[in-house]
Amino acid sequence: MIRRPIVEFAGLGVAVPDRVVTNADFEKTLETSDQWIVERTGIRERRVAGPEQTVAMLSRDASLLALAAAGLGPEDIHGIILGTASPDRLLPSTACDLQALLGAKNAFAFDVAAACPGFLFALNVAEGLVAAGQGENMLIIGAEKLSTISDPTDRSTAILFGDGAGAAIVRKATGGSGAVLSTYMKSDGRLADLLYRPGGGAVDPISDKVVAERSHFIKMAGREVFKSAVKTMAEACDKALERAGITADQVDMLVPHQANLRIIEATAKHAEIPLKKVMINVDRYGNTSSASIPLALDQGIKEGRIQPGMTLLLVTFGGGFTWASAVVKW
Ligand code: UT7
Repeated sequence: MIRRPIVEFAGLGVAVPDRVVTNADFEKTLETSDQWIVERTGIRERRVAGPEQTVAMLSRDASLLALAAAGLGPEDIHGIILGTASPDRLLPSTACDLQALLGAKNAFAFDVAAACPGFLFALNVAEGLVAAGQGENMLIIGAEKLSTISDPTDRSTAILFGDGAGAAIVRKATGGSGAVLSTYMKSDGRLADLLYRPGGGAVDPISDKVVAERSHFIKMAGREVFKSAVKTMAEACDKALERAGITADQVDMLVPHQANLRIIEATAKHAEIPLKKVMINVDRYGNTSSASIPLALDQGIKEGRIQPGMTLLLVTFGGGFTWASAVVKW
């Protein structure tokens, strides 16, 4: 029997590009409307990075804030685990590029390919590595530049996604705040083709054909993904609570993946957590995939809605399919 907490959050930081793209901006290029986007998704605007701002750079900015909050320097990091669905390059990992930018010379670094749950998968991995004695201070990141893998001509996906990064220092538990009381992750690869990028990988390497077919961009069967999201987010809530040995009424704040306001509402309803105890910022950032949970956490802290000692339920879902959750005593 493993005794938790093994790790605790010691610092958090986020970074988003300055440029705001509103629903009205999409009305100029796509057959869509602000009303449709708000009603069906809850999104009003999202951030988009320019060519000069890479995923590694967004990650660096978020990581430096997380390090400062933890009172640590880059050389104190033992491991860098970066969740992303939009890596800067296919080789090497964005985590290695981030390591170089930070000067984190004592760390190992690798990416986690788990789509939107990337940040919580990274948390699960960090917890396991600390338990295995691979180091005491892990830097976990969820960072995306989804604007580069979304098809600007596809109204069913282009309007959904945004860019941004969130980072946290997860260290060996000291009995302090931020204790991770439970973690959970699960996947179902049979559903991969409901949310995927068909071209540009080893199966169908980048070619004129891939580009002409636009198969290097995200393809999504929205309605099917929606149904699975509601189901798996519910299961993930139950599992994290069960593993932490608590019930939903003991949760002070639900911090769900920000994909769609209707999915968030359904998740809260399943968990019987009132909406006033739910972090929602999908309206401001859209779906930032793996960055979404740290961005919501950070907003809750800055707004004073998340306070030390609160019990948080983090839950997420994404392509793969993958889903994950955690309970944290903040
Ligand atoms: O991060 C985790 C992974 N992603 C998700 O969790 C996303 C899950 N899915 C969703 O959030 C929703 O399914 C969407 C927001 C993507 C779509 O909403 P929906 O209510 O499921 O719409 P739909 O796909 O069933 O489409 C309804 C209609 C269609 O028109 P017809 O066939 O009824 O004439 C679409 O062509 O809405 C149309 N449509 C749009 N109309 C205006 C699709 N996108 C747009 C758009 N503007 N941007």
